[in-house]
Amino acid sequence: MLENTPSRTAEVVALIRALEYSYYGEQSLLKDKYAARFLSDFYMAIYNRLSILPEFTSFFVNASSLGLFDFITLRHAFMDSYVKRFAAKLPIVLLGAGYDSRALRLHQHIHHGIWEFDFPATQRRKKFYLRNERIEGEPPHYVEVDFMKEQLTDVFAHSGIPKGPALVLWEGVSMYVTEDVVRNTLITCREYFGPGTIMLFDYWHDKMEDPLRNLLVKLMPLVMDVIYNERFTFGATPAELRALALDCGAKRFESNTGKQMMTKLLLTSRLPLVSASMAVVEF
Ligand SMILES: C[S@@+](CC[C@H](N)C(=O)[O-])C[C@H]1O[C@@H](n2cnc3c(N)ncnc32)[C@H](O)[C@@H]1O
Repeated sequence: MLENTPSRTAEVVALIRALEYSYYGEQSLLKDKYAARFLSDFYMAIYNRLSILPEFTSFFVNASSLGLFDFITLRHAFMDSYVKRFAAKLPIVLLGAGYDSRALRLHQHIHHGIWEFDFPATQRRKKFYLRNERIEGEPPHYVEVDFMKEQLTDVFAHSGIPKGPALVLWEGVSMYVTEDVVRNTLITCREYFGPGTIMLFDYWHDKMEDPLRNLLVKLMPLVMDVIYNERFTFGATPAELRALALDCGAKRFESNTGKQMMTKLLLTSRLPLVSASMAVVEF
């Protein structure tokens, strides 16, 4: 990731959430009316062209992204379901928040505050785009951080977030950090927030049994680096991630494929990619 440049992938996922709302309308999983506000001219031009197409074209948009479109909306909806279940009793921690609008969309569920941690360049751009927004509910606590360079314990301590159980969402980030950072993040969340903490994060599979899929996942880091300057650096199989999470003190670990998230969300009509999954870790 470039030091002083806002994350481009954060904008791409905002574009996907904006399109999901325009395609599905009242049937939208996320109804993210804020997502389109974060788009620069380039992504807004794509949004304007794709969003006027009828709903069934979302199938082709998803197919041309090899299932990424549906996976990204599913992972967001899956995490939303945890916010709706737990935010009445736990504070929400967003690590690598990007253009996440849960503080605005789900404010009625959030009773113990929401802390957004992100790279300075991305977070400043987000605050700029929201400067005139009427904030309902408690405004988020913004905290700038570089996960690759800073000690998370110190960052948490300076952020003012209370020590005690929390719901930690680490969405679309683990693939951009090292295994050491993943390990340290899990350990720090366990040590800082303690028992009762739930952590959700999606992760990329860096190897797959099917030879064609395996070739595609091997090419992914290069593709991400060339297009977005955001290289994939961490990947794991579900078995490897289970071992890592248990090693970091998880009491319970669960990994959900896109299909399994669909079952839990009672959905049938999406086709998510299979080269990533959602981890749920309980401490
Ligand atoms: C793909 S975006 C996901 C954003 C958001 N969670 C979402 O799903 O909409 C990746 C996010 O991770 C952040 N990020 C990546 N590397 C980071 C690092 N080393 N330190 C802090 N944030 C980082 C980026 O700024 C960006 O907001």
